[in-house]
Amino acid sequence: MATKEKLRVDGLVLPGFSPLLADARKRLLDIENLPMRKDDVLISSYPKSGNHWMNEIVPRLLNSMLDFDHRLNYTFLEFMPDLMDLQVMPSPRVMTSHLPYQCLPKEHITNRGKMIHIIRNPKDIAVSAFYHFNIDPTVKDYVCPEWSEFLDDFLHGEICYGSWFDRELEWEKAALVNPENILILYYEELKINGLQTMRSLSDFLGIPHSSKFLQDVYEKCSFDEVQKRKMGTDDEYIYRKGMVDDWKSRFTIAQNEKTNHVFNERMGDSKLRIRMNTSGKH
Ligand code: A3P
Repeated sequence: MATKEKLRVDGLVLPGFSPLLADARKRLLDIENLPMRKDDVLISSYPKSGNHWMNEIVPRLLNSMLDFDHRLNYTFLEFMPDLMDLQVMPSPRVMTSHLPYQCLPKEHITNRGKMIHIIRNPKDIAVSAFYHFNIDPTVKDYVCPEWSEFLDDFLHGEICYGSWFDRELEWEKAALVNPENILILYYEELKINGLQTMRSLSDFLGIPHSSKFLQDVYEKCSFDEVQKRKMGTDDEYIYRKGMVDDWKSRFTIAQNEKTNHVFNERMGDSKLRIRMNTSGKH
C-alpha cells in the first residue's frame, strides 16, 4: 500500500512534482496550450522507456555537437518550475514529457512538429519503475513498496502516468495518422542495432550526419558513459542497469504469465514491434 493518496487528474495518476502538487489541472492546461515553435522537438514516452537516453542523443544530433549539455535547457514540461522559461530558450528546443498524447501541446500537433516516442518491453519498464519510484522523493509516497503489488498496479494503470497499454495504443494510433512527424523507436533496437537506429533518428530530424559522428554520439551517450557523468548528481539513480531483459531477474513464473496474459489481451491487435520475450528464466 502506498502511504499517500495518489494525485490524479481525470483518473490519470500523476507524480508529486511541485507544479503538479500546486495545481495539476492548471499545469496540464498550460502544457496543452503552450506556444510552440515549428522547429521544436518533443520527446514523449512512458516513464522508464529510455527518455533520458533520448534526451542525451537528440540535442547532440540537432546541434551537431558531441559535447552538448542538455541540462542547460531543462525542459521537462510537468516538472520545470516555470513554463515561461521556455520562451527565452534558443531554437531548436527539445522538450520532454510523459503525458498522454492528447495532453501534449496542441500547437505542436497542428504545426506538425516533430515528436519522438521510445517504447520498451513493459516487463523491463515495470522493474525499472519499481526501483526508481521507490527512491524518487517526488513519487515514493504514492507507490507500493512491495514488488508483486507494484506489478499489479502497473498492469492496472495505477502507477504514475497511468496505463502503459493505453499510452502505447494511443501512440500507435497517432503515428498512423501522422507518420511523417512521429518517430517510434524501440529501446531494445537502440541498444542492439545502435548505428542503424541512430541513422533513422538523424534522418527523421532532417539533419544529415556521417556514420562516424553517429557512432561517436552513440558511444558518448552509452549507458556506461552517461552513468559515469551523472555520478553524484540528482539524476544518479536513473541509471540503474540499462539492460534488455533484466525483468528475468525479478519476475516469478506466475508474474511472467500474468503479464503475458494482460499483454495479449490489451495489445493483441497492435502492430507495434514490442519485444515481449514471453519465456521467463525461472
Ligand atoms: P533501468 O532502470 O532498467 O536501468 P527513463 O529515462 O525513461 O526514465 O528510463 C530510465 C531507464 O533507461 C533506466 O533503466 C536507465 O538505466 C535506462 N537508460 C538511461 N540511459 C541509458 C543509456 N544511455 N543506455 C541504456 N539505457 C539507459
